[in-house]
Amino acid sequence: MDLGLDGKVILVTGGSDGLGRALCGRLVEEGARVALCARDGDRLREAARGLRAMGGDVLDVVADVTEPADLERFVTGAMGRFGRIDGLVNNAGRSAAKRVGDSTDADWDDDLALKLYGAIRLTRLVLPYLATNGGAIVNVLAIGAKAPGAGSTPTTVSRAAGLALSKALSKEAGPDGIRVNAILIGLVESGQWGRRAAQSGRDVEDLYTAMARDTAIPLGRVGRADEFADLAAYLLSPRASYVSGAAVTLDGGLSDAL
Ligand SMILES: NC(=O)c1ccc[n+]([C@@H]2O[C@H](COP(=O)([O-])OP(=O)(O)OC[C@H]3O[C@@H](n4cnc5c(N)ncnc54)[C@H](OP(=O)(O)O)[C@@H]3O)[C@@H](O)[C@H]2O)c1
Repeated sequence: MDLGLDGKVILVTGGSDGLGRALCGRLVEEGARVALCARDGDRLREAARGLRAMGGDVLDVVADVTEPADLERFVTGAMGRFGRIDGLVNNAGRSAAKRVGDSTDADWDDDLALKLYGAIRLTRLVLPYLATNGGAIVNVLAIGAKAPGAGSTPTTVSRAAGLALSKALSKEAGPDGIRVNAILIGLVESGQWGRRAAQSGRDVEDLYTAMARDTAIPLGRVGRADEFADLAAYLLSPRASYVSGAAVTLDGGLSDAL
């Protein structure tokens, strides 16, 4: 199926690793032009090199989504290079899970700055440029947004806020032909798990097998980054032209919430 993304310009935060990196590759395969950002310049440049080797027209910008000035530089750079923006993926993030009683103000400030304020600020910057009748925003969240468990904050609270943000924005931006959707991730193979395995001297495949077994994922395995990329690329594409205000779960059946 041709997704109709050829020539579209898509901004992806956290595009240098894991899910974001897989999505950038999928978008390049579809002929989209991609602007990606992350903090670690070496890893970002490496990702951009790989995408260019695939034939991609790619802009890499070292930027921290918690820094408003970095976000402005990211958007200005993308507009300067490509002259238009068709899609935004608020993907940058990391896990942060504690019991409320053990958490500090700094834990909450950090998580909300990364996962909520970063997405709000970047969305505000991009909205005026988003192509009307075809623009799309995808917010990458987690299943905990709908089913927060014990010891899961502040992430689940930030993600629940992201869910509300996605819905409210879909209603505000819909009349301009801009669609807004969320993806709720369960457990999906990515750089963060690879790093966690390396830190504990464990084989990453063993970790994935243990994660699937311990959480009893109905499909019996953790997800693959390319499975995320397929879903996100679809939601960004004109093929999803009547899908807005939706939260799509990508978790192999793990969550109890619909
Ligand atoms: N994989 C899962 O099982 C899972 C589950 C639930 C939710 N998620 C969510 O899915 C998204 C992608 O996660 P992932 O698993 O692909 O993680 P990952 O492999 O660790 O990749 C995270 C990406 O985000 C970037 N990033 C992190 N903090 C950033 C910041 N402040 N500013 C700009 N870029 C930043 C990282 O680059 P730098 O470190 O160089 O900045 C990297 O490119 C995250 O929002 C995560 O919370 C993932």
